[in-house]
Amino acid sequence: MKLTATPGCPLRGEAAIPGDKSCSHRALIFGALAEGESRIEGLLESEDVLATARAIEAFGARVAKEATGKWSVRGADWASPADPVDCGNSGTAARLLIGAVAGMPGISATFTGDASLSARPMGRVKTPLGRMGARIEGGDRLPLTVHGARLGGIDHRNVPASAQVKSAILLAGLGNGAAVQVVEPMPSRDHSEIMLAQFGCQVGVDDTEQGWAVRLGERRALSSCEIVIGADPSSAAFPLVAATIAPGSDGVARGVIVNPLRTGLYETLEAMGAEIELSNECIQSGELVADIRIRHSTLRPCHVAARQVPAMIDEIPALAIACAFAEGESLIEGLGELRVKESDRLGAILSGLTACGVTAAVDGDTLRIFGKERVKGGARISTRGDHRIAMAFLAMGLAAEQPVEIDQAEMIGTSFPGFVEVMRSLGADIQ
Ligand code: S3P
Repeated sequence: MKLTATPGCPLRGEAAIPGDKSCSHRALIFGALAEGESRIEGLLESEDVLATARAIEAFGARVAKEATGKWSVRGADWASPADPVDCGNSGTAARLLIGAVAGMPGISATFTGDASLSARPMGRVKTPLGRMGARIEGGDRLPLTVHGARLGGIDHRNVPASAQVKSAILLAGLGNGAAVQVVEPMPSRDHSEIMLAQFGCQVGVDDTEQGWAVRLGERRALSSCEIVIGADPSSAAFPLVAATIAPGSDGVARGVIVNPLRTGLYETLEAMGAEIELSNECIQSGELVADIRIRHSTLRPCHVAARQVPAMIDEIPALAIACAFAEGESLIEGLGELRVKESDRLGAILSGLTACGVTAAVDGDTLRIFGKERVKGGARISTRGDHRIAMAFLAMGLAAEQPVEIDQAEMIGTSFPGFVEVMRSLGADIQ
């Protein structure tokens, strides 16, 4: 399905942003590992997360949606699934589940995914898990078959910073008493650390000379709990960036996770001159959440250093759109990881911007964007089957001089079901 975003309408009002994707995967997986029945409020009901729900059911957990809209997960002793576990488009599902199974003696599972996921590197989890003693058959890509075993400890240096790798190692270590530590020179999102603690597992974090050290404590058994998931800052990025660039806009997203390891985009937009306001901050299931209000603003270009990138890794497509409207040269460094996301996002951003009349260049893993207050648009964008490329260029079309069309809208459902309806409720013309 093609979609076209047409400029001319300001975005105003409240954007209903669904639950955070990273936390939703974790709530399901940790619930499936916990003793007893956990309840999850605000679960993201997207393709990616539903793939995780099906996967944990295949391992023996019981998952149900209640009439209240909350989800319940009854943990179980995991059993080997009869069929391969299809992780769909989700790197988080694949990498976290591989870690969990690796540390379970007697359990075997084969993991598969769609074409995009099957092209993404898995060596980054396979290698450290192998050092812990895991038995994993296959190469650097899915499908992989994991034979759970009693694992030893590890002290892993997590470079490039990957929350999925860190989480896989922590999950693999739950079943043993050995020392399990992950050291991150640049911290990646810490939702696993925060949520494992909610489930009663001891996780220590320390600022050391080598970097941020995360280690499992003595108590590693998970017990059921109630989790409330905040709105996803990565999804909120698209309507909020659209509001920043579309004249006359004034939009708000409520209850968004503003964990400092996820707010790089919002800090950068503020530094670019965006009128952005946080209010109603509170802690929900260990995570900081707040309402984020953004008004249309004249933007200055930005310079993002490599060390700032992990806190906005999924928001670079949205940031690139904001940069296109900021008069002058923006520079974003350290984007190598974008090449191994749901698509080669660096390539997709570059060709999309160029097609819309924006001068941009990639030099190694640095992206340069020469922004102008007025952007031509008027292009058909190849999303390369990537949900975030699709949403980013629709946002651009709402503020460009001419409409922007995307070739494939279906994948938006992997992270933001209802995206088009939410944008229309703000006044956007997307057909
Ligand atoms: C995620 C971590 C990030 C992010 C991905 C979700 C997670 O990847 O890009 O969309 O849920 O842990 P890394 O593992 O590269 O940090």
